[in-house]
Amino acid sequence: MQILTFDTYEQLSTHAATELVDLVAQKPNAVLCLATGDTPRLTYNKVVEMAQTRQVDFSQCAVVALDEWAGIPPDNNGSCHAFLHEYLFNPLKINASQICLFDALTTDPAAECARVNTWVTDHDGIDLMVVGIGVNGHIGFNEPGIAWGNDAHLADLAPITRTVGQKYFATEVPIEKGFTVGLRQVAAARRLLLLANGPKKAEIIRLTAEGEIGAEVPSTILRQHPNSALLIDSAAASLLNA
Ligand code: F6R
Repeated sequence: MQILTFDTYEQLSTHAATELVDLVAQKPNAVLCLATGDTPRLTYNKVVEMAQTRQVDFSQCAVVALDEWAGIPPDNNGSCHAFLHEYLFNPLKINASQICLFDALTTDPAAECARVNTWVTDHDGIDLMVVGIGVNGHIGFNEPGIAWGNDAHLADLAPITRTVGQKYFATEVPIEKGFTVGLRQVAAARRLLLLANGPKKAEIIRLTAEGEIGAEVPSTILRQHPNSALLIDSAAASLLNA
């Protein structure tokens, strides 16, 4: 696991965006797996800017969403569906046929997860995965204690995730479960970037980089990945010893 520390969130975001745009420039049909949330927002804004200035065509790439809030309709602005359309799919003109999103309203979660797993397999796995991190170390909705061998599944959200997650919604919503790509798929991504900024993430970044590797802190899976990088700003890095 590389640790790349930047003075500012903006520099971190520029680095992540550059890596993403460079990949698509080299491999126009790249397969991406992307998180939503506050952390990657600026990265995605910069991806759109760079794609325009560098004339990089995203229309061939394929994208699978990292996760989704179960039961939240796609037109709710707090959904991962709405976020990815607003920040990436619409501005980059990524065709609906190349997008794989969890159907949050499905009546058959097992079949929905199987559909996403098949999509990933049929696309020969993920070239680049961009994830954030919860204050409890979750990646996607892989909460502490989850088996590292899992593929996509419907997860019970940790209490802290239910509480913090309300920040994405204009009015309070019941969020108890979430669909997520599994840690086996995270581990199998050919490149894995974890982005974190701000002092609230400092303690979990310390545990991720320097604590015991294991299921209680899912983000420690990055340390077993052959091509992962932790992209952090100086505030998130402030408790690291090294
Ligand atoms: C969202 C996701 C979550 C977030 C994490 C951090 O798609 O996968 O795991 O990355 O909860 O959220 P922010 O970036 O809002 O601090």
